[in-house]
Amino acid sequence: MSYKNILITGGAGFIGSHLVQLMVARYPESRIVNLDKLTYAGNLENLREVESAPNYTFVKGDINDPDTLDQLFEAYRFDGIIHLAAESHVDRSIENPMSFIETNIVGTVQLLNAARRHWKDFTGKRFYQVSTDEVYGSLGDTGYFTETTAYDPRSPYSASKAAADHLVRAYFHTYGLPVVLSNCSNNYGPFQFPEKLIPLMINNIRIEKPLPVYGDGLYTRDWLWVGDHAGAIDTIFHKGKIGETYNIGGNNEWKNIDLVHALCDIMDELMDRKPGTSRGLITFVKDRPGHDRRYAIDASKIKNELGWTPSMDALQGLRATAAWYLDNDAWLESVTSGAYRHYYEQQYANL
Ligand code: NAD
Ligand code: TYD
Repeated sequence: MSYKNILITGGAGFIGSHLVQLMVARYPESRIVNLDKLTYAGNLENLREVESAPNYTFVKGDINDPDTLDQLFEAYRFDGIIHLAAESHVDRSIENPMSFIETNIVGTVQLLNAARRHWKDFTGKRFYQVSTDEVYGSLGDTGYFTETTAYDPRSPYSASKAAADHLVRAYFHTYGLPVVLSNCSNNYGPFQFPEKLIPLMINNIRIEKPLPVYGDGLYTRDWLWVGDHAGAIDTIFHKGKIGETYNIGGNNEWKNIDLVHALCDIMDELMDRKPGTSRGLITFVKDRPGHDRRYAIDASKIKNELGWTPSMDALQGLRATAAWYLDNDAWLESVTSGAYRHYYEQQYANL
């Protein structure tokens, strides 16, 4: 399948900006429209490389506003939608669940409704919901999430994504809307907002602040290079079967404390500090409420059916990420000024 007019929501965020760059470069005959509200997590600096590309259009707007959606559907006659816009940080969802309900659940339904209103005929159309493995809940020491694992979300963030996924599937079963979904593990790489584990640690190492490790530090995540996720989304968008769900993972499990140790060692080397210096900044702090112990993905369906596998080597990816943040300290300084700095200064004032 090929698509001529593609709406990407949340394209100024971390994963969205990598996806927009990939799609603009790979499909010069298609128009890529990026609809983004530019919340604290959205940043047009992430899109400098494509901003003047002839097949790219940015629109500042909210997926919760049906008038904006109607105008865009009228103007661009979308045949493909890739929906990433979301509130994405678990800790923020614990502090303020409402914005997660509004954007992740209600916003997704607004987008589904707009597709139904404007798509008179579903032939050649596709609505792609980009979701997370966190909807499956928490694993013990063994086992993996597959596409048939029952949903068991445990944070307001994962519950809001789970609700949205259910609604996307409901629109497929009830109205025949042509949908496809993916559930991906934790991403890392350039342009990730430094509230998530990896960029937060890199930034704090850079400025020699405490490295807050939640609880015992033995929580496990499966890390995927963001460029690999963007490639998987492109594969599923073009080759995935309508009505299906695909799990995406990096086959790259790390306990948080091991990952933080690795980042400390990489940063010491890149910043010419004495080996062991940054590990001295590690500080165990109060655990996150309801903290999921382990996530791990069985990504054999996407491998066997669509031929996708991750390409980035784990340590090489961490090194490339650390080096990118050091080279882009102006980006880091700009996104961590103001409200961000105030928040973390309060949060960790006593460390
Ligand atoms: P992000 O927080 O970096 O970016 C989200 C983007 O959505 C921002 O640009 C923001 O401005 C925009 N946005 C928020 N509310 C909006 C609204 N109401 N209308 C329009 N735009 C809005 O998020 P991310 O990490 O890039 O994640 C993107 C998607 O991928 C999310 O749906 C997330 O659930 C999913 N996901 C993320 C990960 C991960 O590790 N980051 C893993 C799996 C799935
Ligand atoms: P995070 O990047 O917030 O992703 P998610 O919670 O969506 O998986 O956190 C990844 C892991 O790192 C998670 O187990 C929580 C832990 N963590 C810390 O220990 N310290 C921190 O400062 C942050 C942000 C996360």
